[in-house]
Amino acid sequence: MSGSVTARGRRLAIIFLAASTFTLTPASAQLAGFSSRVSLENNLAQTPPMGWNSWYHFAWTINESIIREQADAMASNGMMEAGYQYINIDDCWQGKRDAKGNIQSDPQTFPSGIKALADYVHSKGLKLGLYTDAGRVTCEGRPGSGGHVEQDAQTYAQWGVDYLKEDWCHTSGLNPKVAYREMGAALINTGRPIVFSLCDWGVESPWLWGAATGANLWRTTGDTSNKFSKILAILHGQIKLAPYAGPSHWNDPDGLEVGNGMSQAEDRAQFSLWAILAAPLIAGNDLSNMSQETLETLTAPEVIAVDQDPAGIEGTKVQEKGQLEVWSRPLQGKNARAVVILNRGLRYGVIAVNWRDLGLAPGAAAVRDLWEQKDLGSYENSIDVGVDSYSALMIKVVEN
Ligand code: GLA
Repeated sequence: MSGSVTARGRRLAIIFLAASTFTLTPASAQLAGFSSRVSLENNLAQTPPMGWNSWYHFAWTINESIIREQADAMASNGMMEAGYQYINIDDCWQGKRDAKGNIQSDPQTFPSGIKALADYVHSKGLKLGLYTDAGRVTCEGRPGSGGHVEQDAQTYAQWGVDYLKEDWCHTSGLNPKVAYREMGAALINTGRPIVFSLCDWGVESPWLWGAATGANLWRTTGDTSNKFSKILAILHGQIKLAPYAGPSHWNDPDGLEVGNGMSQAEDRAQFSLWAILAAPLIAGNDLSNMSQETLETLTAPEVIAVDQDPAGIEGTKVQEKGQLEVWSRPLQGKNARAVVILNRGLRYGVIAVNWRDLGLAPGAAAVRDLWEQKDLGSYENSIDVGVDSYSALMIKVVEN
């Protein structure tokens, strides 16, 4: 039997309980020298982090009211129930250091300080993320953590920060494995559970050594943009990275451009593919001002369930025909696969998705459309799928 499926989604809230037990490594108090034998495992991010980041939409124009508005939106529009947790402030929150070298927020744009903002975000049931840079100066010219690693980590913990992204601008002469491990150790030393997000843009293959620095995720690419061609370029850079991801240690192909100007089909394609990649789902749009369609994309429950699958196995490309690609990810439990069929071409196309290419046994398997949330029936050995230009469909295939 063969058939075709079409993509359309609908909103439904679902709660995911991320199992994150925080344990301090006994040896973590003696981290001077940062011996690579000391485990910096924090056990956070058992599934890929879900949240929002200020950079993609607001860049350097952020202030504390914008951050509060994003938290208000996430807490009230269904995103929190769908699993989103982190409100991450990117570059440009920093002011000057005080006389003792303590980092402070920008007095013009964040006059109430980060502690007050963290308290506010926590009062909504959400968590706060912050940004720094391994150099002395960030990409936007604000103070970085270079020379102040231990001191800054303590400050973040005192403020109640739950997530730290550390960038890599202005780091000439620094070894990323050493610099990131220094921050990873400093964060563990605070005793506060802080997700650690490493951002060297994939330059030094951080998937090979990121986990040893204490990082829970590492950027695998340069910066994203709201162009579908960029999303595809990033996607194609991920093909060989699947073996390096797993619970608490994720490849980070950068955030979501959903709601930032691509078409709805392109937004859904990115969201579907990022779920196959077990990527962090970090929204990058203005949450306080988005369309219903954008919200439905960001909260699609069965797509999010794939991203957050507890087995934490990242998917990859398994088949290609002309402009059509099939990406697949094994899911926990039964012989089940999440599958995205991507059309990166200019014309509608049809491709047969074979169970063999998914690593499933020949014979009957049940197929479900994850955007429509609809069972499509049982298919023998394969299903023919038709996909519009610059779109993707997402199905789940389970051996009978
Ligand atoms: C770099 C990072 C981005 C963002 C900016 C902020 O370009 O890759 O994600 O954090 O810096 O300056």
